Amino acid sequence: MVSTRRPGHVRSTLTGPDFLGPPGRRSARLTRPLVTAAAAALAAPLVLAAPASAGSGDNLGADLRGARPGAESVGDRLFPTLGNGGYDALHYDLGMTYQAATRTVEATTTMTAVATQNLSRFSLDFDGNTITSVRLDGGPVAFARHDEKLVITPARPIRAGTPLRLAVAYHADPRSTAFTCVVPPPATPSAWVPIDSGFVDAGQPNCEHTVFPSNDHPSDKATYTFRLTVPQGTTAVANGRLVSTFDGPDRTTTTSVYREDAPMASELTQIVVGDFTVAQVPGAAGVALRNVVSTASAAQIEPVLTQEAEQVAWMVDRAGPYPFGVYGELVPDGIDNLGFALETQTLSLFPSGFIKSNRNPVRVQRVLVHELAHQWFGDSVAPATWSDIWLNEGHATWYEDNWADPDGSNLLSQMHDAYAASDRMRAADGPVALPDTAEVMFDNNSYDGGALVLYALRQEVGDATFARIERAWQARFHGRDAGTADFIALSSAVAGRDLRGFLTPWLYSRSTPAMPGHPDWTVLPVQPAAAPSVAAAAHPARAAR
Ligand code: ARG
Ligand code: ZN
Repeated sequence: MVSTRRPGHVRSTLTGPDFLGPPGRRSARLTRPLVTAAAAALAAPLVLAAPASAGSGDNLGADLRGARPGAESVGDRLFPTLGNGGYDALHYDLGMTYQAATRTVEATTTMTAVATQNLSRFSLDFDGNTITSVRLDGGPVAFARHDEKLVITPARPIRAGTPLRLAVAYHADPRSTAFTCVVPPPATPSAWVPIDSGFVDAGQPNCEHTVFPSNDHPSDKATYTFRLTVPQGTTAVANGRLVSTFDGPDRTTTTSVYREDAPMASELTQIVVGDFTVAQVPGAAGVALRNVVSTASAAQIEPVLTQEAEQVAWMVDRAGPYPFGVYGELVPDGIDNLGFALETQTLSLFPSGFIKSNRNPVRVQRVLVHELAHQWFGDSVAPATWSDIWLNEGHATWYEDNWADPDGSNLLSQMHDAYAASDRMRAADGPVALPDTAEVMFDNNSYDGGALVLYALRQEVGDATFARIERAWQARFHGRDAGTADFIALSSAVAGRDLRGFLTPWLYSRSTPAMPGHPDWTVLPVQPAAAPSVAAAAHPARAAR
């Protein structure tokens, strides 16, 4: 069931073109302080009262004389150029005005952050677009662009602990192809996904900074405000809750304000503008639901989404309380080339062609559950590094598998087949928790290989303990980022025994350990990558992925 055309083939894509991405290089464990929404709320007024660029007075203290540039990387081994180590982003305020005549966007991103060292200089990730002004704490500031960095040099160093507010105004063309960022495995020239009536946003994992300047790594979550101005009659939606809507002075535009108060990784941003219908749906398990569907296709899309509330309640039973204020499914026409669905926070994205055709209803519902499960696994608890992608995709696949197989009758054969393919997947892509390169991070090894690790853990500790581990993960790390070492430690704590010896080879070895309870299971020998897959033939429905 696992492989499609070769053991390492991309599992997540709905279509599946080929792609060459950036090579991985360094290895570093990332840790960042947890920043609360309350801290973000506090920071903004402080900035206005005491401009950070001036420091707290006119003399530079001895420590400030030693101020250094923030490192132009947070040290992700798969994406070594992402992020900056010198500050912690607290809040992004994204203002965007969409002009239908030119299909372009006038935008201002205001990032509120706090310096985490004495800073002589810092950078944001930003690629493409045309900057019209940059202001630090309300005044002009020197800036430069190189590669995918926007580098800010304040007139005076910024003391560690000082809040700062950076406003970047720019012009954007969602249809532009003049971006440097490359999204693995294939996909788009940027995170902007243009549609006839506007655009959609798909930045995972490393290209959201083509839409707005940010510290573009999941280890630096922030809260968000979106102020979206569009022609009257056009719909604009973003992550989180709708706070207000008002008409422009000449009544030709409407501005909608959305807030995401739960900390969010930049890669999970969703901003959608176009001819959409927002359908309020009866919620479940206390979760408010709204779907955003292309108006022209609403009658075909909505009947396919009717299991949503039941799926939410089912996930709450397994993973714990829903972590956000709202959930919904975003189904645009005109993005079928995207080739994948995406777990953008509170509003998962699905190309309408996939939903409407509904040729394989079980598969469609699996993918709906998959992106829903990501709200707990990947969104509320974000990966500490991109090498931890199996925590996202393994869990989402695990719940998808279990939803599709309520009595567990197929799970066994699915896991048996994944086990058989496991050495091949590892040979092609690397250990489950250490993908060789960015271009293989969305391969089957992260999806079915990750789910197989969870099955092995359940076999080892038993159903009840496994269920407790899954809920404890959310209880412990919601709103934060966490990595593979955290998962091993938490599993051990919940199980009451040291699981390092068990989980380490499952996660970090290129050869698949013995499966507890199934001494007869064997792996297929590693073959050249082009070898046809026995497993794919056995499960055509899954091979379609
Ligand atoms: N995370 C998505 C999923 O739910 C897949 C995204 C795949 N591709 C990408 N370039 N981000 O499986
Ligand atoms: Zn996924």
